[in-house]
Amino acid sequence: PDLEPFVDELPIPEVLEGDRTMAIGQSEHRFHRELDVAPTWSYGGAEVLGPTLQVHAGQPISLTFENRLGRHLFAKYVDMAMEGSTEEDRSRPRANVHVHGALAPPQFDGHPEDTFRPGRSKTYTFAHHISAAGMWYHDHTMGITRLNVAAGLAASYWLRDNYDTGSAANPLGLPSGEFEIPLVIADRRFHEDGSLNYRCQRQIPDGQWEGVMIGDTTTVNGKVTPHLAVTRGLYRFRVLNGSNFRTYRLFFSGRMPFWVIGNDAGLLNAPVRTSSVRLMPAERCDILVDFSDLDAGDSVELSNDEHPSEIIKGLTGATVLPQVMRFTVGSIARRAGRVPDQLRGGRRQPPLLPPVRTPRRRRVVTLNMDDRPNAPKGGMQTGMTLNNLCFHDEPIEMPRQGTTEMWEFVNTSEDDHPMHLHLVDMRLINRQALDADAYVRANPKPARGTRWAPAPDRFLIGRPQRPAAWESGPKDTVRCPVNTVTRVMIRWPTAEELGFDPDTVFTSAMGHDLRGYVWHCHLIDHEDECMMARFRVVA
Ligand code: C2O
Ligand code: CU
Repeated sequence: PDLEPFVDELPIPEVLEGDRTMAIGQSEHRFHRELDVAPTWSYGGAEVLGPTLQVHAGQPISLTFENRLGRHLFAKYVDMAMEGSTEEDRSRPRANVHVHGALAPPQFDGHPEDTFRPGRSKTYTFAHHISAAGMWYHDHTMGITRLNVAAGLAASYWLRDNYDTGSAANPLGLPSGEFEIPLVIADRRFHEDGSLNYRCQRQIPDGQWEGVMIGDTTTVNGKVTPHLAVTRGLYRFRVLNGSNFRTYRLFFSGRMPFWVIGNDAGLLNAPVRTSSVRLMPAERCDILVDFSDLDAGDSVELSNDEHPSEIIKGLTGATVLPQVMRFTVGSIARRAGRVPDQLRGGRRQPPLLPPVRTPRRRRVVTLNMDDRPNAPKGGMQTGMTLNNLCFHDEPIEMPRQGTTEMWEFVNTSEDDHPMHLHLVDMRLINRQALDADAYVRANPKPARGTRWAPAPDRFLIGRPQRPAAWESGPKDTVRCPVNTVTRVMIRWPTAEELGFDPDTVFTSAMGHDLRGYVWHCHLIDHEDECMMARFRVVA
């Protein structure tokens, strides 16, 4: 449907603190005033998505989530051929919770095989003794994460510390309270009756993995292209790309400049002035926007000019979605607040933030598109892997605690991928073009199931490109473009630094014997296929 933009008000989720029990349940929500009320999934009884959870560094927190889901909102898209999925997921869907960006013990990390069915709950406890970051919490259930998240199971999770306190009394002078607003951007599709639609490729039969869910409408905090009335002053927006698949390149009307103050995993050293940022799914950006020079009644749009890749356009007919939301400036001027000169100011360099120095070891990993050996007829014949392996294949990566590594993500596929590692922060070092065809020709790839990650050195083109200033802060999800080697530095924490053993063996509620963490592509449709792998941080 063609929905009138900028007519509904931006919903602002409630901010909750402290230990609590929250439902993972079904709710009802109107995504746009021209659409009917439709079922959606949410956390904590919220109408849509979930409350913003606010926690403080060093204060332990315990969150119990109860699965109260009924029949799956996207029951007919559960694909029984996918690792972990069962017929029962249609009527009694599994769920779990992952706090994306948290340093969580493995048993509280929302491991994809640590899930629970309706009527059951799980308590997650975190110490969070790291510095402030704009994290988020979302479902991570093996084989159906893409469906659970698109149904609505995703919301913001803000970690505070003594600098970014979340109150007006913060030493950095950052906007807070009503002037600090989460923007959870996600593209969606709707049926005529206003309910969410998952399918975007008609030719794929129901019950089969589609490879992609890319929407034809943008929502922010659950409303289609909303508007927000602002005062003439400085605002802090905590932007998350919560889409399954779509990348957004965001800018304001007239290329109005703004300041990036943080990346996924925390604040930058100093604000970076820019006029656009590009976020793949799961990437976050903490920005300051100053409306004080505008006149009452002026409006400013937040727009997107990122086009889907040719291959995705071809499969789905998806196009660029230029409109994101609109801000209308009111007549009230308030003491604007100032963009601080320094943020971290070098005062705290947590030992977990990877340094820019010679790593102990370099690890090449590959992002691949290849044949799906057991793809059903009429379904997607190509799929995605990491290192040419599926989730349960060996060997897995086994870095050592206390060491520093450089990971090289070698992208030989036909699209960009946002690569995410649990437990650690990454520092983006550079990206370098690759002659991927020559690389693959010289190193023939075996069938799926054999690790394949040859060194890319002889096939590199040109010079390494440094990251843009606005993406130079601590990251947990990094854009890895096609035909490119993307290099990141990672420091593997020790058990002492973490206060828990990252290599703990534990048994899931479903009785799986588990250990370690996952790393994966955050295009969730890829993650649910074979683009997720395990790692252990060994002593
Ligand atoms: Cu956003 Cu493995 O997660
Ligand atoms: Cu991917």
